[in-house]
Amino acid sequence: MPTILANGQVFIDGKLQRTDIAFDQKIQAIGKNLLGEPVDCLGKIILPGAIDVHVHFRDFNQSHKEDWQSGSHAAVRGGVTTVFDMPNNDPPATTVERLQEKRRKADASLVNGKIYGGLSAENVDQIAEIAKVVDAFKLYLGDTTGHMIISDRALQKEIVHRVAETGKVLAVHAQRGGIAPEEITAHEAKDLQYAIELSSQFKAKLHLAHVTTRAGVETILDAKRRGLDVSFETCPQYLFFTTEERSKRGAFMKVNPPVATAADRDFLWEALRAGKIDMIATDHAPHTIEEKNLGMEKAPSGLPGVEFVLPLLLDSVNAGGTSLEQLVKVCCARPAQRFGFPKGKISAGLDADLVVIDMNLRKTITRSEIASKCGWSPYETMTLQGWPVMTFVQGQLRFRS
Ligand code: DOR
Ligand code: ZN
Repeated sequence: MPTILANGQVFIDGKLQRTDIAFDQKIQAIGKNLLGEPVDCLGKIILPGAIDVHVHFRDFNQSHKEDWQSGSHAAVRGGVTTVFDMPNNDPPATTVERLQEKRRKADASLVNGKIYGGLSAENVDQIAEIAKVVDAFKLYLGDTTGHMIISDRALQKEIVHRVAETGKVLAVHAQRGGIAPEEITAHEAKDLQYAIELSSQFKAKLHLAHVTTRAGVETILDAKRRGLDVSFETCPQYLFFTTEERSKRGAFMKVNPPVATAADRDFLWEALRAGKIDMIATDHAPHTIEEKNLGMEKAPSGLPGVEFVLPLLLDSVNAGGTSLEQLVKVCCARPAQRFGFPKGKISAGLDADLVVIDMNLRKTITRSEIASKCGWSPYETMTLQGWPVMTFVQGQLRFRS
């Protein structure tokens, strides 16, 4: 017997509509007087599950920071039903065997788990083989956690060429690392431009990760105007934090690329409202409190985020900072379109990845309720209005508050 989400307002074709949804694993029907087991959603809204194309669920030798169970638990609590996991693991996810092992963990998790293949000097010849077991590729042109940077220009070209031949999206960490945060911020546009030129030579499907600055966004918009095949994400940390928080919070605001200026943050919000941000991904990069307590110099960089990105944006919708329409575009529709799979909207025949939301529910983020294994959040103490109360992944109830 199908489940019916009844009496709610459902986000279909760009707006909320008063209708019901019948589903088992897939959405069976949308309309009134449907047959099935009703779940009353009066006063709630129903959105497609969010798709986060940038998480680090760690596991392997770093399962003390996060694993697929804890990471996916955090995700569904926040209304995220699909994640793309990065390959900078210990050991790195650069071989067919390790990627298959990751696939098993992803398949056993609470979400739709998709995986990036890592790229290295050693696996260039196997890119076509690796393409068969991954959903996309990830290339590091800048140094960061995991040290998977490829600096050799000939090797960069070879890699981009071969990935382009697979037809998969190539996500790139373009921003340089290992220098002062202000310098990374100042160089962002130039570094993005380098990745754009490199990938355009081979017509790769480029996706630029974690864009933080106005100059960076403008560089990408310019490439789009030139007809280049490029997309990008920004992340909640760049919408909610600036250098001010970095001075106050030290290692607990250490992230790569670093948080930028207030002017950059304000520009990102404007760009979001104007429909110029392709997608929002979290770069959920959990590190433990002990590791972060090592201080600015020694602590690893990265902030967790998958659990709260949707509530943060729902709260902004309530406050008039953006619209529900933009939210669904950047968190659901565009990630699915760009990475090429049929999700990110509510439509009969698609997987029942659905989030029931109470736009009136107010909750304060507290450490004791955090599901991510890292056990902390940069958003602690914030009170937000608008929270998921139920999350379904392929029709299975994975979270209920
Ligand atoms: O701050 C970051 N942390 N930036 C990255 O690019 C990697 C990530 C991590 O894996 O911890
Ligand atoms: Zn990352």
